Amino acid sequence: MKKNRKGIILAGGTGSRLYPATLSISKQLLPIYDKPMIFYPLSVLMSAKIKEIAVIIREEDYKNFYDLLGDGSQFGISISYIFQPSPDGLAQAYILAEEFLNGHPSAMILGDNFFYGYYLREILEKASSREIATIFGYRVSDPSSYGVADFDSNGNVLSIEEKPTQPASNYAVTGLYFLDSSAPSKAKTIEPSKRGELEITSLLELYMHNNQLNLEKLGRGFAWLDTGTHENLLESANFIRSLQLRQGTQIGCLEEVALQNNWISKDQIKDQAKKFPKTLYGEYLQTFLD
Ligand code: G1P
Repeated sequence: MKKNRKGIILAGGTGSRLYPATLSISKQLLPIYDKPMIFYPLSVLMSAKIKEIAVIIREEDYKNFYDLLGDGSQFGISISYIFQPSPDGLAQAYILAEEFLNGHPSAMILGDNFFYGYYLREILEKASSREIATIFGYRVSDPSSYGVADFDSNGNVLSIEEKPTQPASNYAVTGLYFLDSSAPSKAKTIEPSKRGELEITSLLELYMHNNQLNLEKLGRGFAWLDTGTHENLLESANFIRSLQLRQGTQIGCLEEVALQNNWISKDQIKDQAKKFPKTLYGEYLQTFLD
């Protein structure tokens, strides 16, 4: 039988680009407008119908994360926590999560990446059903700040490079990776880069060399924001605020995704709504009960 895909959220690191705001709290717990940052990537994994999720965090942040997300049952999912001894690059996550993944394919998302777009759910489900690996490309004006991929019209990746000085394309590789069950064993074979990290791009190159790496373009109708600096944090907050107030909806509402997936009942929504009186989030949850 085909094994179900498990999820990983990488929410470790020091958040040093956000100092002093993150001196005493994990970056992924800071609010983006009205919700903790981690709600947004968590809602993406849940939209991909992923129910078993491990969050990789620093041990000292455990209490805060647990107070926020618990074991995930209020969202109809299971959340476990994996401690990151030191931040040694994104590919390290697969080594830390090897036992959790236990031979299952995975979707990993970075805890500071924000995705929004109408067809996201369909795109995620398509990626999830593929045997080969899928990454998501997004056109940016400053590709040198990211992993950059070059690819053909079928989405076959031809090259991938971390923060290139001469980028081969304008497409940044976003922080969402659908990999097969061999990711942990492949991650163990890669060497640290010049900056001393196990780069995700080195891991993806191994898939590329086996012709097993597909890039899905997120087009103009999508928003992809990396929220790791003060500027980006504010930009993302403004983006979310504008859409939510204009449309009267919520972005990153975990209970809504859970209800759409039939993972929780209306009674559970009611319990959650009671926790957030006098907030737009609470009012929004109420609308599912009417
Ligand atoms: C990381 C990855 C990079 C990717 C980016 C997306 O960069 O190494 O390939 O494009 O996340 O947010 P970092 O944020 O660690 O500089």
